[in-house]
Amino acid sequence: MENIYRLDDGQQTLVLAARNDRLPQVVYWGAPLPKGENLQTLHAAHGIDVTGGMLDENPDLSLCPEAARSFPGQPGMVLRDADGAPIWPKFSFYSASENDGLRLIYKDANHALTLNISFASDAQTHVITCQTTLDAARPVHVDWLAAPVLPAPQLSDEMIDVSGRWCGEFQLNRAPWSPGIHTRESRTGRSGHEHFPGLYLPCRGATNTQGAAYAFHYGWSGGHRMLAEELPDGRRQIQWGHATGTQTSAATRFETAPLYVVYSGHGLNGCAVAFQRHLRDRIVTWPKPDTPRPVHYNCWEAVYFNHSLPELKDIATRAADLGAERFVLDDGWFGRRDDDTSSLGDWVIDPRKYPDGLTPLIAHVHGLGMTFGIWFEPEMVNPDSDTCRAHPDWVLGPADQVMGRQQMVLDMALPAVRDYLYDRIAAILRDNAIDYIKWDHNRVLPAPDAAQTHGTYALLDRLRADFPLVEIETCASGGGRIDFGIMQRTQRIWLSDSNDALERLRIQHDAALFLPLSVTGSHVGPRHCHTSGRTLDITFRAWIAAQRHIGFEMDPRELTEDEATVLRTVTSWWKANRDWMQSADILRLDSADPAVIAEQQLARDGGRFVVFAGKAATSAQIAPRPLRLTGLDPNTTYRIDLTNRHDLHRLSRGAQAVKTGPLDVSGAYLMSHGLTLPWSFPERMWVIEGQRL
Ligand code: GLA
Repeated sequence: MENIYRLDDGQQTLVLAARNDRLPQVVYWGAPLPKGENLQTLHAAHGIDVTGGMLDENPDLSLCPEAARSFPGQPGMVLRDADGAPIWPKFSFYSASENDGLRLIYKDANHALTLNISFASDAQTHVITCQTTLDAARPVHVDWLAAPVLPAPQLSDEMIDVSGRWCGEFQLNRAPWSPGIHTRESRTGRSGHEHFPGLYLPCRGATNTQGAAYAFHYGWSGGHRMLAEELPDGRRQIQWGHATGTQTSAATRFETAPLYVVYSGHGLNGCAVAFQRHLRDRIVTWPKPDTPRPVHYNCWEAVYFNHSLPELKDIATRAADLGAERFVLDDGWFGRRDDDTSSLGDWVIDPRKYPDGLTPLIAHVHGLGMTFGIWFEPEMVNPDSDTCRAHPDWVLGPADQVMGRQQMVLDMALPAVRDYLYDRIAAILRDNAIDYIKWDHNRVLPAPDAAQTHGTYALLDRLRADFPLVEIETCASGGGRIDFGIMQRTQRIWLSDSNDALERLRIQHDAALFLPLSVTGSHVGPRHCHTSGRTLDITFRAWIAAQRHIGFEMDPRELTEDEATVLRTVTSWWKANRDWMQSADILRLDSADPAVIAEQQLARDGGRFVVFAGKAATSAQIAPRPLRLTGLDPNTTYRIDLTNRHDLHRLSRGAQAVKTGPLDVSGAYLMSHGLTLPWSFPERMWVIEGQRL
């Protein structure tokens, strides 16, 4: 008996094959195979040889490698029975269906276990979604359960995973392959700044724009573990699952989060575009899909906890004048929240700051043509709050735990906690015309526990069902909770608390490996950045925000008339282009100059694009190197124009054609030679628009 399954989506082929009644393994994953490929032959050709020092037969690197079949690496599951005794299952084929994606069922009769593995492919986004579920007739403990285990390429010298910190999200971390295990684990109860759940495996020679690459994302917000293992025989496996031991009680059903994977023959960008499209078109549900993304104003860095109605009205008026379309009232409107030491949990409007409730402010904001959004941090409580005083038993973890920002976490697994939060949030939404929530999560859990994440998901799902027109932004001190699990319930990401445009340039560039413009919030911050101390030019700050979902977060009263003019100009440019940009692909460019971080946003029909070339530092050489574009038709002519040529500095003295007017050049020229841009200061951005003629 031989079970063989094949998935094709036009960008990749994945072939699974099983010996006898065993679990299948991936025998091919890569560039599309010819339709007529003989898969039996592939399967027969797949095995590795046996020599001295090896078992007489190599255990399969299956979708769930089994210790009981002598697999020489990390097994796909680690179980114990209700008494704690280890269980090492051996699964046998039960059924397969290929009606709605591929669904494989395997059973272990001795231990009364059922393993359910699913694969779904998507011909538009080219992301394969796979997931593993374990059912047990009697409760078992699961210490580890991997989503379908996939092999890693052999012609790959390094892996790129993602680390980070507050104000420094999405740092790409390159680790060489070597025998043994490279592991990343988030044990803070969030997907985390420190370990975004994503992995890229470039094959040798791959860059952003060319070569082969594989990528993975685990869609879970509660903390995950990834392991990349090279076995003694040279085979490589990638496993993803919930952080170990976070499913704390014995149960009869365990489910991994969906694992999203993609192969690209077009460099890292082929994977990035697949994730961007999949997130925007399949994961996020948009309350008003035909409405363009509105320009935001958020008052946090303008007023912090200092809410005064006349000042906020003045700020809102100025924000609207700059082009804002949504006003978000941040932290400080509830309880007695004058600083971050109190009131989380007391979701009642502060009558000292808002004697007539929020209505006067909301009416003012609406009068300016903006909609109104509001900040919550529902999962948290300050010990100094009426909620905590009334319900000390609602707090997660021990009473003597270390505090984070003077706050503790509510136990979201308790229905009473979820009901309380639902009632408070629903009351605010029902009594006020609010169409947006910024949902924060500013401290890590005292100990990771999957039940917490399930509770949060349940609360979000209930609120979304009852308030389907309210959009939600996921924030956790900036980018501490970004993943496709939370994005199934939210529409925007507060990528980072860093409004420093220079830092943002890099963070946005690297986050584009997973995130599209439509979900990625980016705000123009204060002239003197509050989180880095840098002072950056307004043009640079404005264009960095215009690369993503734009907003303002400075106090508009600090703006000079010239600065306000720049903001108005860039914002109207963004509004004029958002319709196509919010569905465009972000392609990271291979920059010949390490000082230049550049991307090309290409319309879905390929008819137009915009290039953002940010100068992050002073170049080593004196004149700019040509910047090669990507994804164009070599035989088509494109009209290229420098959008912000008025930013040319007088020290740029040469007679370059691009400085004076549009150029008509072929895609071949733009992709093979590249565009030579004018000289500029560091911390400046060139914006180049292109149109197919
Ligand atoms: C977190 C967020 C900020 C802001 C503050 C409010 O730090 O990341 O954007 O909302 O909380 O306390």
